[in-house]
Amino acid sequence: MTEKKLIPVILDCDPGNDDIFAILWAMIAHQHGYIDLQGVTTLGGNVSADLTYRNALRMRDFTGIDVPVGKDLRPVVGAGDASHIHGADGIGGLSNLLPDVQEPSQTLDSVQMLIDAIQRQPGQLTILVTGPMTNLAAAERKVPGILQQTKYIIAMGGSFHAGGNVTPTSEFNIWYDSASAKAVFDATDHIVLIPLDVTQSFVFSPEDTEQFLAEINHGYKADFMRKLTQAVIHTTRNFRETHYQNGFFVHDGHVVGFLLYPHLYRGTLVGVHVENQWEYTKGMTVADRRNHARTDYRKTLVITDVDHYGFLEALVQDFREFDFGE
Ligand code: RIB
Ligand code: CA
Repeated sequence: MTEKKLIPVILDCDPGNDDIFAILWAMIAHQHGYIDLQGVTTLGGNVSADLTYRNALRMRDFTGIDVPVGKDLRPVVGAGDASHIHGADGIGGLSNLLPDVQEPSQTLDSVQMLIDAIQRQPGQLTILVTGPMTNLAAAERKVPGILQQTKYIIAMGGSFHAGGNVTPTSEFNIWYDSASAKAVFDATDHIVLIPLDVTQSFVFSPEDTEQFLAEINHGYKADFMRKLTQAVIHTTRNFRETHYQNGFFVHDGHVVGFLLYPHLYRGTLVGVHVENQWEYTKGMTVADRRNHARTDYRKTLVITDVDHYGFLEALVQDFREFDFGE
């Protein structure tokens, strides 16, 4: 039997509480031998580039999965953040529960890591995106056409009928750097977009979390995961996001869910346009569903539905079977 070729993957993220679940799930899939996780690239978004970088390094140490971690080396543009949601350290104020992180002597550049990985395996690499599209756009500017050399770009972002979460119309990842998002949608037909319409369609409850936390021995790791879940539920309740249901939305985890279990999702191939100018609609994603010949612009697979129970079962089972070590 021919040797199974693992899907090469890079995760581009801004950890961020829910990014942590995506990072952990991707590392679990790597340990299970489902994917070849070749790197985690980070950028500023939920919190600063320094903090998202350190949080990704923390997750590398937390799981013992030693993948290269890239940093957003651009000068800080002061675009604000979402620390009111994710805590001053970007992980619910819980960084003190984790061992201090040792930054590598050589800092890897997120954008160059993405370019090198795509060029190393043209047409094969899947990029999971759980933050703003700033790194992707920078890669496309540096090497025009590079995004069309990916296999897929599976991104959490946008909103079509669910309203906004950072403004009345816009979802945070697209809003935070709408110019980059616009450039990326215009550059490639390889995007699978998982919007708030899907990620807010069901609530992940404390009981769901307990189904896998109980499997982690009672060291600091279970304590961190339990407290991170509680922190996310607390901010979710503060912003009344889940309409009084106890729990939180798994936004970023869906990019891993779609990669591993695509049969759980349904979508439609449409042109997606990003508003980039006006005060109340900056970062708004607009899908063109008019019934006319679609030849003159890029298409995006916009996910419209997910099998809630299949997703929960897959996530919980994968986390339960993960060896978190001591
Ligand atoms: O709108 C949800 C997205 O914004 C998630 O990626 C979350 O981490 C924040 O970055
Ligand atoms: Ca994120």
